Amino acid sequence: MIIPVILSGGSGTRLWPLSRALYPKQFLSIIGEKSMLQDTVLRLSLLDDLGPVYTVCNESHRFLVAEQLREIEAEIGEIILEQTGRNTAPASAAAALLIARKHPGALMLVLPADHVILDPQAFREAIFTGRAAAREGALVTFGVVPLSAETGYGYIRASLKGEAYNGAYPVLEFVEKPCQQTAERFFASGDYFWNSGIFLFRAESYLQELEMYAPSILGACREAIEKAVEDLDFLRLDAEAFQSSPSDSIDYAVMEKTGRALLVPLDAGWSDIGAWSALWDVHERDEAGNVKKGDVLLHDVRNSYIHATSRLVAAVGLDDHIIIETADAVLVAAKDRVQDVQLLVEQLNRKE
Ligand code: GDD
Ligand code: MG
Repeated sequence: MIIPVILSGGSGTRLWPLSRALYPKQFLSIIGEKSMLQDTVLRLSLLDDLGPVYTVCNESHRFLVAEQLREIEAEIGEIILEQTGRNTAPASAAAALLIARKHPGALMLVLPADHVILDPQAFREAIFTGRAAAREGALVTFGVVPLSAETGYGYIRASLKGEAYNGAYPVLEFVEKPCQQTAERFFASGDYFWNSGIFLFRAESYLQELEMYAPSILGACREAIEKAVEDLDFLRLDAEAFQSSPSDSIDYAVMEKTGRALLVPLDAGWSDIGAWSALWDVHERDEAGNVKKGDVLLHDVRNSYIHATSRLVAAVGLDDHIIIETADAVLVAAKDRVQDVQLLVEQLNRKE
């Protein structure tokens, strides 16, 4: 059985003003009709042997998660609540501990809630390929051919010339978020994949690696699960115990260190919608290269992303811009500066 574990703890600050602390991007319908969280579950629906959906999220989002999963009639396994997030290694550990107890031997498929995958069929085939290796104890990563020397991703060097192990290749090196210079070297070499942030392994395999490389995370999560409290449809991790876990990502805590990682190439139109420019990248554009959403009127505007939610937005003579209009805030940004939207949000938080 494959149990999806959806990590839905992010706040998506770089997609402000559409993405807000109480309503982050994974709950929004940014690409299609469904929210990104719903799409994450729906694209799995044709996998045979699919188990109940586990979600790990902040307690303030619990009703959103429950409502959105119900709306698409997902089989809900557990909705695990964090009072404060401790990054992805502890979030996955909490889910793994429950899964190892309730579904021994099952595979868990760790899925970020905020990715776009344009070709779900190719995605399911990659999962299918990784399954045999994961069953035998590997930690399977899914590697995407890099498009640039992006520093916000993990980089994986795999031995594609070596014998494929059931379609999965030995990982020779995993480097999380390298500096610009290193990212450029990796990109130029052609030997590296981007880590998609999606993982497939037995819950037990992940717990063994945590025991070895991050025992304090495992210890804290064990206690947080033992003392967890059921509350309606939710499982509240014990806040004090969970808080005592080091805050670390699965990439730094385990993937950079483990000797059990394998890579399955993923060519499925994957993208991490980290910032507004990524949305321009994945959307269909008109002849002028614009993406228009809502009530938008343009003259002589090119290669821009314009999104109106509550009134008419009109623009003249712009190239490479992002305009996002909401009822209480409007963002205007140069397309190559959208990473800095995060800085605006920080300023805003300081003001509040
Ligand atoms: N429940 C929970 N709790 N979820 C979390 C937490 C947390 O504390 N922190 C992050 N998440 C969720 C995010 O919402 C997102 O869906 C996913 O876990 C990944 O976290 P990000 O913070 O978006 O990670 P990243 O994008 O910087 O890096 C990861 O993804 C890249 C690809 O998108 C790494 O795995 C990189 O190696 C990878 O290239
Ligand atoms: Mg991300």
